[in-house]
Amino acid sequence: MIIRVLGSAAGGGVPQWNCNYRISRRAREGKGEVRPRLQSSIAAQGSEGRGWVLFNASPDIRQQINETQALQPHADAELRSSPIAAVVLTNADVDHLAGLLSLRERQAFNLYATDRVLAVLEANPIFRVLDPDYVRRITLPIEKDVALEGPAGPLGITIRLYPVPGKVALFMETGDAANDFEADGGDTVGVQIRGESDGIVHYVPGCARVDDRLRERVRGAHALLFDGTVFTDAEMAEAGVGTKTGRRMGHVPITGDGGSIDAFDNLSVERKIYIHINNTNPILEEASEERRRVTDAGWSVAEDGLELHV
Ligand code: MLT
Ligand code: MN
Repeated sequence: MIIRVLGSAAGGGVPQWNCNYRISRRAREGKGEVRPRLQSSIAAQGSEGRGWVLFNASPDIRQQINETQALQPHADAELRSSPIAAVVLTNADVDHLAGLLSLRERQAFNLYATDRVLAVLEANPIFRVLDPDYVRRITLPIEKDVALEGPAGPLGITIRLYPVPGKVALFMETGDAANDFEADGGDTVGVQIRGESDGIVHYVPGCARVDDRLRERVRGAHALLFDGTVFTDAEMAEAGVGTKTGRRMGHVPITGDGGSIDAFDNLSVERKIYIHINNTNPILEEASEERRRVTDAGWSVAEDGLELHV
């Protein structure tokens, strides 16, 4: 199986269109101090090459396809064709849904998500641009292995969704904590991805807290691609760009009390990789103390185009 990172940044990307904070500025300067990054998505293909699965559909999907030859129509394929056979959604955040609107054009693929996330699509009529004669919406159960299929059959990739502490999408928040924060209901899920070999990859771009269940689940995995939105909980306020903490946004910080570096220590995970990185996070600065801290702790920082061969 190949896993390819299409977008390693959180919503907004790096640089973000309206952001004048140091990190976006450095990304624009292009001196290599901060690499530009697109918004949140990975792709996977099984060893027999029967089609790609996108995990989340980023607002940057068009650019991601243009930059990734494997996702473009093959030269000898039909006039309208795509190697993208399926899309799996891990939550209903804008940075994970908006790319669906660019996949209209009457191209067949299967769209997988939990019933909660599919309900958000149902409630937003703009997603009817995905013609149901071409795009099948398939409800994914939680805690069950599912062999993914494209319109032409099995893809050689098996996934299992599992709930992680999280919240409803920002645009669905009501201000009522009982509605907005849902620990186990499928609003936000992690996904275990397996090809034909034994190697397991976990993809968890949003997670509000690392609990024992999650720790035990990832033990021994080949790779963990985990929520690296913020380095510290108060980072956005300290940068002067917002008032919310990481946790309030549904993202556990990398450091501090309950931070992900400590929480995932000593679990025999071969590769630990931060992904979904916000444009305030100093690990984006190649020469920063914070970058050194995560690499010293055995983590790497995802870049667009990173490939894992499992
Ligand atoms: C998040 O990851 O917290 C969301 O993508 C935020 C947003 O909707 O902008
Ligand atoms: Mn996000």
